[in-house]
Amino acid sequence: MPLLGAYGSRLAPIFIFKRTLNVLVTISLYNRVKEVIFDLNKNHIRERELTEIITLDGPAASGKSTLASMIADKVNGFYINTGYMYRTLTWVISEKNLDLEKDRQQIINLLQELYIHYEKCDEHHMQLICDGNPVEQAKIRNPEVTKQVSAVAAIPEVRDWMVKCQRKCADVGLVVMEGRDIGTVVFPDAHYKFFVTASPEVRAKRRLAQDGEVPEGATVEKVAADIARRDELDMNRAIAPLKQADDADFIDTSDLTVEQAVDKIVSIVSTKNNGIHA
Ligand code: DC
Repeated sequence: MPLLGAYGSRLAPIFIFKRTLNVLVTISLYNRVKEVIFDLNKNHIRERELTEIITLDGPAASGKSTLASMIADKVNGFYINTGYMYRTLTWVISEKNLDLEKDRQQIINLLQELYIHYEKCDEHHMQLICDGNPVEQAKIRNPEVTKQVSAVAAIPEVRDWMVKCQRKCADVGLVVMEGRDIGTVVFPDAHYKFFVTASPEVRAKRRLAQDGEVPEGATVEKVAADIARRDELDMNRAIAPLKQADDADFIDTSDLTVEQAVDKIVSIVSTKNNGIHA
């Protein structure tokens, strides 16, 4: 990423994210996104802080978490995984022994007192917090939670509540947010949207290679069947089903290495930014 010379602050070097004739969008090392308006003689007219979002949506095990986190590193943004937010709620529900059918009203009431959000843990990363405590990965990325989470995510009141939580989390500057409905529902006006997928077989193999996500003794066939079941639920739910936003770029990662997929996405972002970024 090129360092910004003429317009740079003396305290924190900044990167150019977008430039037109008289508008400059910059990112400080501390992820603040600022839009600066100049006149044609480069005299400063005004500036304001912005939120910029890069959205990655796609089905389970399509590789979007790995990509989103690496892209965030490359563009100096914050990575937010919204699937983990749904998983955290699913974990809370199971800790309280609530049944998704019988205790539906109790689950909806629970949302009024629960607080799940991402907060900055340092200048480059965000930590998922549930009711004041950092969320442990092992608790939310296990087969039990994985089995229930799509059904939890299909509850309309849960989705309304989550979308509000997710919008609040993004108020930190440049964010790379991944999920199922980020480009379609959470941030439909985002400038950079991607729909990431891979063939069912590739996705099953990737999921199998991930620690803790699948039951012991799982085979590619069983994992593929489970992924297909979740795809079905995610794509056919009544509210905010998984689908590609009309203005999203489609990225099939089946035959790409992680690095190739990251480069492809970052280069599309770069092209949309007049080729300045990255
Ligand atoms: O990405 P993941 O497998 O960790 O997501 C877990 C579940 O959460 C997935 O089955 C669908 C749901 N989800 C959703 O409905 N909307 C999102 N924005 C993110 C995840």
